[in-house]
Amino acid sequence: MKLADLYLFLRTDINKIEKELERSVKSEQSLLNEASLHLLRAGGKRIRPVFVMLSGKFGHYDIEKVKHIAVALELIHMASLVHDDVIDDAELRRGKKTIKAKWDNRTAMYTGDYIFAKAVEKAAFYKNKKVHSVLSKAMAEICIGEIEQIRDQFNWDQQLKTYLRRIKRKTASLIAISCQLGAISAGASEENQSHLFRYGYNVGMSYQIIDDILDFIGTEEELGKPAGGDLRQGNVTLPALYAMCQDNSVKRDIHDILQSDQASEENVLDLLEKIKTSGGIEYARKLSKRYLQKAFSALEELPDIPAKSSLEEIAMYIGGRNY
Ligand code: IPE
Ligand code: IPE
Ligand code: MG
Ligand code: MG
Ligand code: MG
Repeated sequence: MKLADLYLFLRTDINKIEKELERSVKSEQSLLNEASLHLLRAGGKRIRPVFVMLSGKFGHYDIEKVKHIAVALELIHMASLVHDDVIDDAELRRGKKTIKAKWDNRTAMYTGDYIFAKAVEKAAFYKNKKVHSVLSKAMAEICIGEIEQIRDQFNWDQQLKTYLRRIKRKTASLIAISCQLGAISAGASEENQSHLFRYGYNVGMSYQIIDDILDFIGTEEELGKPAGGDLRQGNVTLPALYAMCQDNSVKRDIHDILQSDQASEENVLDLLEKIKTSGGIEYARKLSKRYLQKAFSALEELPDIPAKSSLEEIAMYIGGRNY
């Protein structure tokens, strides 16, 4: 089963959001137009708009009222991916060339900024100041998370808490506020807003941990990009952190192989294998499950409406994702 099958009943509303996304990034400037549409049309799970919509169901749901924030959140996500591919030096995204690879870093810089600007324009629909303060805070958090990742690149002495703080900032915050703002835009109660925020935060933590696992075990076809990118880039994620803690020789190998100019592909593949068999994948899965448990407890506080079951199913899907 695909993730999208879990929210088939939202299809009509998702189509509206899809059209709105296309409309919002269209530009008379041909390069910005082409680059933004290139990423938009490459696909993507659109999970953040889905969280907005499902959370909106806990209030007085009206797609005309929630769609602007759903679009804004997907645009913020997209913009952060454009920039992320620059710092991760990534060639492929969603099975297509990244903007930085198809054009160049300079184009990616401004396409990312342009998409961010379009997100802000979309959010201007709402008069509620809280919407804007929540959004801008999350945008700043992503920047802090990503810049801390640059700072901590090739730092093999990181603590678990450094990793957790980073993924909270770069990923979980945006998913948490997708739920919160979906609830706010539909006028849900403050209590439900905060349960939904807590659900989103915990699902978001689990989401990034699984993304980091998949970077080790996924195939290029499944991931839409080659596996092993995080390690090659010196991005220290949970499976590698665990492997280094368990076995000092992994730390030495990582240091020697990745920092040497003559690291052969064979050496890197051996190292990936060593990490995969260290128990790090299982450890990361366990931690991801712990966050999902917390997400389920947050859901327990919410009224029993069909959207609650969908949020449950999505969380279960994320936990069981093996590609
Ligand atoms: C990728 O996010 C970056 C992370 C925060 C893990 P998604 O996995 O939601 O990417 P798309 O939008 O489906 O391509
Ligand atoms: C998530 O991290 C990126 C952002 C939150 C901007 P990754 O660097 O792991 O995302 P992918 O794997 O490139 O999609
Ligand atoms: Mg990346
Ligand atoms: Mg990254
Ligand atoms: Mg990743």
